[in-house]
Amino acid sequence: MGGFEAVPTIPIVNAPVTAEVLARAAPMNEGERQQIIDRIKRLLREQDAVLVAHYYVHEDLQMIAEETGGFVSDSLDMARFGNEHSATTLVVAGVRFMGETAKILNPEKRVLMATLEAECSLDLQCPADRFIPFCDAHPDCTVVVYSNTSAEVKARADWVVTSGIAVQLARHLKERGERILWAPDRHLGSYIRQVTGADMVLWPGGCVVHEAFKAQALATLKQQHPEAAVLAHPESPAAVLELADVIGSTTQLINAARDLPQRVLIVATDNGIFHKMKQIAPTKLLIEAPTAGAGATCQSCAHCPWMAMNDLRGLVRVLERGDNEIRLDEEVRVKALRATGRMLEFAQSLKPAAAAKSSTA
Ligand code: 13P
Ligand code: SF4
Repeated sequence: MGGFEAVPTIPIVNAPVTAEVLARAAPMNEGERQQIIDRIKRLLREQDAVLVAHYYVHEDLQMIAEETGGFVSDSLDMARFGNEHSATTLVVAGVRFMGETAKILNPEKRVLMATLEAECSLDLQCPADRFIPFCDAHPDCTVVVYSNTSAEVKARADWVVTSGIAVQLARHLKERGERILWAPDRHLGSYIRQVTGADMVLWPGGCVVHEAFKAQALATLKQQHPEAAVLAHPESPAAVLELADVIGSTTQLINAARDLPQRVLIVATDNGIFHKMKQIAPTKLLIEAPTAGAGATCQSCAHCPWMAMNDLRGLVRVLERGDNEIRLDEEVRVKALRATGRMLEFAQSLKPAAAAKSSTA
């Protein structure tokens, strides 16, 4: 269908400046840091709680998650892990949509967040009161929303998806002859459309962190390191993705860092990912993709201001006080569960295919 599509207007998001977020925290000496870490570990045990962290949060939180039987991963596997774990409390270190996804899937569990202030520009740019009329205006479309959205937006969707399985889902829907309304990330949407040829209407949102990567400066950096491979998250602009050797979710980029033959890797995603990349690929030289250069207005400088709000003090406080609990309207949650549960089922259905592919490779 080639007709004119009205582009919805989206709210302007004034993202916090990452350096200012980090500067808000009072300095902590090594003794205090160790005391808080020990206390968090004890409280997790005492409260039958498990910590589920995203790769972008501070390495101390990632380390605690891994040392206490919790998990560090991309947003798809965070949802999967929380759903499958038997703990009665899930503590989510990441941004709000990750906590909400955990609650949508696990109403019987207490879901706490290290901070409730941690938003996501994609979520903020796609408020339900603008999104729902847009969907209503496209009754011919299957509504597919990125996991980086509110529970209300998920409740209006037919499918929820993460970057780890978005291409596969679009192919699946295309094979069924379905037209897709995709929200909120326009870069990820354009990328999926380009790879799959699916017929897609795009919501015009963007990630403040990934939109700051600069293609021209990246091309110059590539010339300086002709032996390097470029890894990029698909929330990056098309001109950056064109220069990439591997495009994928955070887990897929980490696996690529380990598996690629190249020793030098230029990485276009939040630099919180470097902690895990260094662990899994210790011999590789990792270089941040540039956020400076022509037209630079970078406020995040490759580190999400909302992810940066997750810290040790916040985490110990929430475990001591039990505040920062995610609560959802039950009607919204039940509606959101339909599309979110389908995401997990679809991801599960891909597993045998992925296993077969790797065994024949
Ligand atoms: P992943 O699902 O790839 O971890 O991405 C989440 C995200 O917010 C990236 O900015
Ligand atoms: Fe949202 Fe971007 Fe932060 Fe990811 S990095 S949580 S997409 S603002």
